[in-house]
Amino acid sequence: MAALATTRPEMTDSQWGEGRVALVTGGARRVGRAIVFALHRRGFNVVVHCNNSRTEAQAVADELNSARANSAHVISGDLSVAVAATAQRLVAEAQAQWGRLDLLVNNASLFFLTPLEKATERDWDQLMDTNVKAPFFLTQAAAPHLKAAKGGVINLGDVIGEQASPPLTIYGISKAALIMATKNHAIELGPEVRVNYICPGAVAWPEVEQDHHDDAFRKEWLSRTPLGKIGTAEDVADAVVFLASPSSSYVTGSGITVCGGRSLRL
Ligand SMILES: NC(=O)c1ccc[n+]([C@@H]2O[C@H](COP(=O)([O-])OP(=O)(O)OC[C@H]3O[C@@H](n4cnc5c(N)ncnc54)[C@H](OP(=O)(O)O)[C@@H]3O)[C@@H](O)[C@H]2O)c1
Repeated sequence: MAALATTRPEMTDSQWGEGRVALVTGGARRVGRAIVFALHRRGFNVVVHCNNSRTEAQAVADELNSARANSAHVISGDLSVAVAATAQRLVAEAQAQWGRLDLLVNNASLFFLTPLEKATERDWDQLMDTNVKAPFFLTQAAAPHLKAAKGGVINLGDVIGEQASPPLTIYGISKAALIMATKNHAIELGPEVRVNYICPGAVAWPEVEQDHHDDAFRKEWLSRTPLGKIGTAEDVADAVVFLASPSSSYVTGSGITVCGGRSLRL
């Protein structure tokens, strides 16, 4: 059979990330951890950012380094404190590890309910700082390195950033703002850097049950999900891999919704 005409370089799953460096915020646990492993499997060296989960982040790095020497590194910092300065420091540390930065995955996020009658200014500041301000200033700090590497940014949004879901109001506002930041940054950072987002539905329930976010809520959510099941962290990681890969080289300012169809109807 004749070879198919393609402009894509020949590559296997494990090759295309080789020689590249990814910084994944909140990469120690849950979805972030799955993203770290998925990118590493494609050959990336990974900088695993954490805040409280230092032990878990180090365990991730140890496992990856034993699979491939000097391929993972841990950095830490609270993204809700002195946000712009923290972002500058984290990007400098990430870049210094291997002398380049090709991919920023803004995964770290805070999630809690904020009913209108109870929400405080502190709630607003914590959610907006962690979920929007930090990705904004991380992108700003990373931009020169990403431009040099012709790299990318992938922001973790949420279907709740596109559909109202009170009392997750401030969280939803923060994710809506992150989606808009993505679109603006795609314009500002082109043509060298691609900037995209992913909107997961339910892929890992919050570990702490919060008010209405209980068993009944979860059953109801699944009953309205066309694929009838909760997704997995790997489902989201696969979308990250696609947006990081040469297969999405003409995609920027775009989102992929990974929600089992849940966001199709109210
Ligand atoms: N899980 C889902 O079903 C779902 C659904 C829709 C969207 N998403 C989005 O997908 C992403 C990953 O979801 P997830 O459920 O895995 O997230 P998560 O467990 O709620 O949080 C991920 C990490 O964010 C870090 N983080 C929180 N506050 C921080 C701060 N002030 N400074 C630095 N790091 C901070 C934490 O790191 P440490 O543990 O090191 O402190 C945490 O492990 C998030 O952006 C989330 O909004 C998830």
